Amino acid sequence: MPLCGGVRGKGKIFDMKILVTGAAGFIGSKLAESLIEDGQEVLVIDNLSTGKKDRVPAGARFVESCASSPEIIDAIFEFNADAIAHCGGAKQR
Ligand SMILES: NC(=O)c1ccc[n+]([C@@H]2O[C@H](COP(=O)([O-])OP(=O)(O)OC[C@H]3O[C@@H](n4cnc5c(N)ncnc54)[C@H](O)[C@@H]3O)[C@@H](O)[C@H]2O)c1
Repeated sequence: MPLCGGVRGKGKIFDMKILVTGAAGFIGSKLAESLIEDGQEVLVIDNLSTGKKDRVPAGARFVESCASSPEIIDAIFEFNADAIAHCGGAKQR
């Protein structure tokens, strides 16, 4: 289901670059999939600690890394995201 396209009921109104952490997991992958369906550009950062690479939707750029790693700062600035959805994290037990 498109997330942004129906905001004003007249089709897509945003062209956004969105960084989604944890998009090899349950919530992040669904969010990233919807954003891509909606035509947004998506960068995924996931360390695959619990996620699965095949859940990262086709069409997303994927960097396998911890979201807090200093090594990915260049990739984040290069992508120049308009928004960040931080879904990467460990579930409480
Ligand atoms: N699923 C729910 O019902 C629910 C409800 C409330 C809160 N949450 C929280 O939302 C977050 C996502 O939930 P989920 O169900 O999608 O979990 P999930 O385990 O399916 O997905 C989490 C993803 O984050 C990745 N990840 C973990 N640590 C990371 C790190 N440091 N850097 C990059 N990637 C990292 C994992 O590899 C995985 O792909 C969790 O923090 C969870 O506690 C989930």
